[in-house]
Parts: sequence; structure tokens; C-alpha cells
Amino acid sequence: MTADVRVVRTVPKSVDIVGVPVGTRGAVPRGLGLNRASLAAHGFDGKPGQTLVVPSASGPTQIAVGIGDDAITTATLRNAAAALVRAAGKRASVATTLADVEGIEAGAAAQAVVEGALLAAYRYHGLKTEAPTPGLQELALVVGERRTSAAQAGVGRGLATTAAANLARDLANTPPAHLTARMIADKAVALGGASGLGVEVFNRDQLVAMGCGGMVGVNKGSAEPPRVVRLTYKPRNPRGHLVLVGKGVMFDSGGLSLKTNDGMKTMKMDMSGAAAVLAAMTALKDLRCKSAVTGYMMCTDNMPSGSALNVGDVLTFRNGKTAEIHNTDAEGRLVLADGLSLGVEDEPDAIVDIATLTGAVMGALGLKMAGVFGNNQPFVDRVTAASKDVDEPVWQLPLERGYRKLIDSNVADMKNVGGAFGGAIIAALFLSEFVGDTPWAHLDIAGPMNSDADEGWLSRGATGFGTRLLIQLALDFSA
Ligand code: BES
Ligand code: MN
Ligand code: ZN
Repeated sequence: MTADVRVVRTVPKSVDIVGVPVGTRGAVPRGLGLNRASLAAHGFDGKPGQTLVVPSASGPTQIAVGIGDDAITTATLRNAAAALVRAAGKRASVATTLADVEGIEAGAAAQAVVEGALLAAYRYHGLKTEAPTPGLQELALVVGERRTSAAQAGVGRGLATTAAANLARDLANTPPAHLTARMIADKAVALGGASGLGVEVFNRDQLVAMGCGGMVGVNKGSAEPPRVVRLTYKPRNPRGHLVLVGKGVMFDSGGLSLKTNDGMKTMKMDMSGAAAVLAAMTALKDLRCKSAVTGYMMCTDNMPSGSALNVGDVLTFRNGKTAEIHNTDAEGRLVLADGLSLGVEDEPDAIVDIATLTGAVMGALGLKMAGVFGNNQPFVDRVTAASKDVDEPVWQLPLERGYRKLIDSNVADMKNVGGAFGGAIIAALFLSEFVGDTPWAHLDIAGPMNSDADEGWLSRGATGFGTRLLIQLALDFSA
């Protein structure tokens, strides 16, 4: 399905669409054959995300693509390329000069354009019996000679990051019976092996022996066994070591604290964190990442049954701490507790977890951004910087220690839930019990894991949110 992407000097004969960037100010490119007044008469004024299809009697159809008036950023170009591909429609071969704009480095521009185009072209064909409609066939980036070699490199990076993000989307879009913990572990073995990663898989007996009471406890009600996958990327002379931990709840029914039916509709995506970790790590070798990265995928479903975890039970985690279960639907923190404990044992320079953790973060921040928390402001700042670079927005929320008493328990070190308020913060405080002094950031991606509509680089369904952020963080990382 992947489109053929290349860098060219002039528009190739093979294309049927040419995307022409147009700002809200300044000259309209001559080749478009329309002046600003006639563009405006058709409702196009060059705002970001706008497109106008300009048919031509001879030659390819042109599409004016709005790029706004501010200093152009990679985010503008990524979303403009996405809008272009959507306007181009099915089976399109597209050329564009979007990567040839002034004021932005050629490689970064080309990468952003490739990302926008291929993320917008993504469709989950899933289990439809009808053959999928062909999407984007060809993407030609037309750039000046001076920009060619940098643009080539940018295309390579864009292909790697989009392949990763679209892999994460495929995994999260897959229905739960078609992607169990065992199956995602098998995929990790295959994909990890093919991308130069070390892969170890831990089964239930091993997790019991390892003291991973969170994983075993959450899995208790399920007919499907759990899996923890450990992925390792190790370049020569690494300049730092980063650990990534992903929540891999393959389906979250809530367990005995059962969700409503509506509440379960997107819960096949409750493994989006683990998917982002796997997907990001498959790109590291191609992108010549210089730091060592270790990933943990904490995979199980959360089911009710006669053998399920009870409310009032107490679990003991890998690091020896205990928690009293007051709500079996707060299961993500239980599997992450073991994952963070394991990750800290690797003695990394920093650790990040990524999880579809709380409905509360959606209440606080809405669906367009993730919450970020941490115990080390410089490291949270690095995560935020990576987020800005890739346009996967995050907003920092406080790790308010004053709320810790809300999870005090009479029988264990803590409860797994607090009161009615501040749920995203409570969850982060719970996780902080498992990282010690290691610089740590927690990404709560419950909001942006899914999109109801095609918008910018987002395509309907699972978004792959966090994949490109983790890649960028790993590339920028040094101890
Ligand atoms: N997986 C959910 C959080 C979630 C909800 C993610 C909606 C994406 C969309 C998580 O396991 C959960 O159920 N959290 C509970 C915690 C509560 C019981 C303290 C929640 O947020 O309701
Ligand atoms: Mn839950
Ligand atoms: Zn969950």
C-alpha cells in the first residue's frame, strides 16, 4: 500500500495532481493560473489546512494548499501535506513544491511533508471483505537543486517515522480477538528481529517468578495469558540509556469493576502505549539513533470472571511495594508498576511510560493532547520539546505530592484509586512510587489515542500518538 516517494527537480509526467503552497500574504505562484482575488472568490485565502482544487484543460489538476502567514513550521507543512492528500482523493499520484518553501531547512521540510502525506493516506482496512480502495500511489517532492540531497535524507526519515506510526495505528485498530497479548508478543519478536532489536518475551510463570504481581493480578480474570516483552536497541558506544514502558491492555473491560458498554467501545486501543513503544523502537536503527533504548510492553487484557482480581485484594509488585485494589478498572497503573520497576533495574539515565491511563486526563485536557507528568523538570522539558518537534501535543500537569494521602490504605502501601477528583494526578502519583530517583516522565495518552475524524495528520481511528514523539526523544537523547 505504501506510496512511492521521491525527490525530483520538475513535476513528473506520471502525476495527475500538483499541490501548490499558497500563503495568506505574498505572491500567488504563477503556475496556478489564478490571482488572489479569484482564489478568494472561491473561498480560498491561504489559511493552513485550506485546499482548492483547480482543474486544468491540459496537464495535471492543481490544488492550492494553504500555508498561512506566520513563519512556516514543520507542523504547518505536515498538516498542509495531509490536507493535500485528502483533497487529491483516491488512487492519486501527487507532486508538490511544499518541501521547497523558504525559511525552513530542506530536510526538515521534506520529512514533514512525507509524514503529513503518508499519515493522511493511512487507512485501516481491517476485516472488510471488499478490496480496499487504492490510496496515494506516488508522491514526488519537487525541490530546487540546492535542497535535493537534504530533502532525500528528510524523505528517508519521514518514511521511517510514518511506517512506525502507521504500525502503531494498525496494532491499536486491530480487534482484541485478533490481537491478544500472545499475538502482539509474537509480532514484537518478528518486527523487533527484523529491525535489529533484541527481543525477550516473559510468560505468566516467568512473571510470577519475577514477582510481577501487577501483571499477574490484572490478568487473573482472563482466559488469555499475559506477556511482557522486553525490546533492546544498543548502538556501539551509546551516549545514554533511555527506557520506555508501554501500557498494553489488549482489551479493558474494567474487570469486576465493569465498564459500561459505551465505555468499552474503544478499549481495544488500551494497548496504544505498548504499540507506540514497539513501533518507535522499530525505527531506531534506520534513523541511526545514538542512544541505547530498552522498551517494555506490558500486555494483558483486563477481564471479569470467577478467577478475576477482587476489589479489596492486595497485590505485591516487582519492587516489593503493595497496593490494595479499590477499583479493578484502574488496572493500567498496576501493569505499569511492574514495568517501571523492571525498567529502573536497567539503571537507565531516564525512563518514560506511555499509557491510555485515565478518563480524567480527557476531562482536563480534551482529546487533542496528552498529559505529561514527571519527577525531573529538565527531563519533562525534553519530552515537551520532542512533542513540539513532531506536533504530538502534550501539556504538563502537576505531580502534586499533597494529594498522595488520598491513596493511603489501611492494609497496604497504597490504594490503586483516590477520590472523585484529580484522577490523572492520582494515577501519576501512584506510578511515581515505582521509579525511585530515576528521571521519569509519564505520558497519559487516553485523549489523543483515537480520533473521530480525519484532521491534519490524524486519520480516523487509532492515531499512533506518541510514536513519533518517542522516536524524537530517543534521537535527541544523551545522558
Ligand atoms: N483505559 C482506561 C482509561 C481510558 C478511558 C482510556 C477512556 C481511554 C479512553 C483506564 O484503565 C481506566 O479505566 N481508568 C479509570 C480509572 C478510574 C477507575 C480511577 C477511569 O479513568 O475511569
Ligand atoms: Mn481500566
Ligand atoms: Zn485501561
